[in-house]
Parts: sequence; C-alpha cells; structure tokens
Amino acid sequence: MTEQILRMFAERPQAYISGEELSRALQCSRTAIWKHIRRLRLQGYEFEATPRKGYRLVGKPNRLLVESILASLNTRVIGREIALFECLESTQTKAHERVAQGAPEGAVILAEQQTAGRGRMGKTWYSPSGKGIWMSMILKPQIPLPHAPQLTLLTAVSLCRAIKRMLNIDIGIKWPNDLLVGGKKVCGILLESSAEDERLRYVVAGIGISANLRREDYPEDLRDKATSLFMESGEIVDRERLIAAFLEEFEKMYELFQEQGFVPIRTLWEALSVSLNRPIRVQTREGWVEGRADSIDDYGALLVHTSDGGELKLYAGEVEHF
Ligand code: BTN
Repeated sequence: MTEQILRMFAERPQAYISGEELSRALQCSRTAIWKHIRRLRLQGYEFEATPRKGYRLVGKPNRLLVESILASLNTRVIGREIALFECLESTQTKAHERVAQGAPEGAVILAEQQTAGRGRMGKTWYSPSGKGIWMSMILKPQIPLPHAPQLTLLTAVSLCRAIKRMLNIDIGIKWPNDLLVGGKKVCGILLESSAEDERLRYVVAGIGISANLRREDYPEDLRDKATSLFMESGEIVDRERLIAAFLEEFEKMYELFQEQGFVPIRTLWEALSVSLNRPIRVQTREGWVEGRADSIDDYGALLVHTSDGGELKLYAGEVEHF
C-alpha cells in the first residue's frame, strides 16, 4: 500500500492528489490513507496538506526506502527483490551469502554504509553513510565462463546511460569500468564470479556510486582523484530514482546481451568510453607502457597500439589517461 501511494506521487511530481483519489485508487478508506501518510511522515517524508486540493509530496528523507525504489521501478526481473541494510561490511559479502540462501537472479543488496567496501585490485572502497549508492546485484547468466567480464562492461554502459538520463553531466567510461567526470572517478564497478568445473554459477556485480558526497566528506588522499554526482551537477541526487533508473537500464542491456550477444554492448561501450583514441599509459607485467587504443575485443580486452609499434591486449589492470 505504501509503495502504491509513493508510486502515485512519483508519477505526478509536484501535483496535489486528493485523499479521495488516493482512497479510490487504492480501494481503502480515507482514514487508512491518512494513516499511511502519517507513517510516511514519521519516516521523514514531508507532505503538504491543503484543504480541497489534497496532499503534495514536498520532501523525502535522506534515507533509502525499499518501497520508494520499487515505486519508481519498472522491471521484470532485475531489482524485484531488494534487501536494504543500515550498515554492512560489504554488500558483496552479503550478496554471496544470499546466493547460498537461494536468492534469485536480479536480487539486489543495498547498504547505507559499508565498513569494508571492496574495490578492484584489492583496494578498499570508501562508503560513508547516506551519501552514496552501495549496491550488489545477483546475476545467474547462462554464458561461458570466459564471457563473464563482458558483464562488467555491460554494467558500466547501463550505469553511464542511467546517469546521463537523470543528470546533465559529461560522464564517460574509463577502461574497463570506472565512470569519470572531468577526469575524476565518480563510480566504480566490481564483478565477482563463482564458477564450478569451468562453469559460471553466478555473478555478483558490485556498484559504488558517489552520489551526494561533498568535498569535505572525502579523506584528503581521495580529494584530487574522486568526485561525486552532486559536486559535478550541483544537484542533490535522488538516490532512489537513480537506483531505479540504473536497474531499468541494466535490465534492457542484459536482455539485449542475452538476445544478441556482446556486439551491441561493445558498440555502446565504445561510444561512451573516454579511454579510446587518446594517449594512454597501461600497466603490464613489464611495467607501464604508452600507447593508444581504438577498440575493445569480444572479451572486453583493450586493444592497445603501443608507441614502439607493438600491439597489446589488456584483459585486466589499470589505464592512465594523460
Ligand atoms: C572499484 O574499485 O572501482 C570498484 C568499486 C566497487 C564498490 C562497490 S560499493 C558496493 C559493492 N560492495 C563492495 O564492497 N564493493 C562494491
């Protein structure tokens, strides 16, 4: 019921909706509606109530609410089950536990805060409370194990498209899956897969979005490298809407991938990438090498033409832009 009420207000932002209309749509008494509105107010929602006009949603709490995400989510599979925690070590760890307990494809774990958020290459991911989107998604794709990294690129494409849809900022993908604005990192993606006998069992896609952090929220050492959507757009990001927008984009891309394979995703990734056709430095076993890349291959590897005339396929590691 709460979800339906929030859905009606989400569909008509700024509009007044009368108690009568709400009670008709939800087939319950005006008193029941009033009780739900009171419950929502206690959770931090602010409603303006005007005689003869009805209720208008004028403020949302700075806490995530699953019902509110579901109220603006139109997907079939992805995000249909969402578990939200106040504080976790890492949503990734919780997602792996949930798979063991039988969680279905598309299940999502969210935390307001992580105390041991995991980043790529053994790094930690800074995840302060209430400021970002710290999320893990369970996937059970029927694909060969070597194709699993393609899902990282698919996730990056979906995230980039969702952010572009909501905010007017110039965001792009740095290979393989960092999202940058003005050269600074704003989102990171971490894919953890589990395989048995060379078969992919499941994947946990971890997504970290620095949504509403301010410069002073970052530790000193991150201030020059990281930024947030708020800092870049000047707008407080509605985290619930962004989660829903991302899950919807992801479902679209995932279906496209299952129907047509990686080729269309690769094309979209290449169009959104900021790592192609510019001087880059890549980390190899022999050290840093300079060059330029103009595409990725079917496995998502970066095809680099090195400045000494060689060619290099980069499957994992770091890229620096200069
Ligand atoms: C990176 O290093 O760029 C990847 C960062 C991924 C962070 C996210 S936050 C939600 C999920 N839980 C984690 O512990 N890590 C991922």
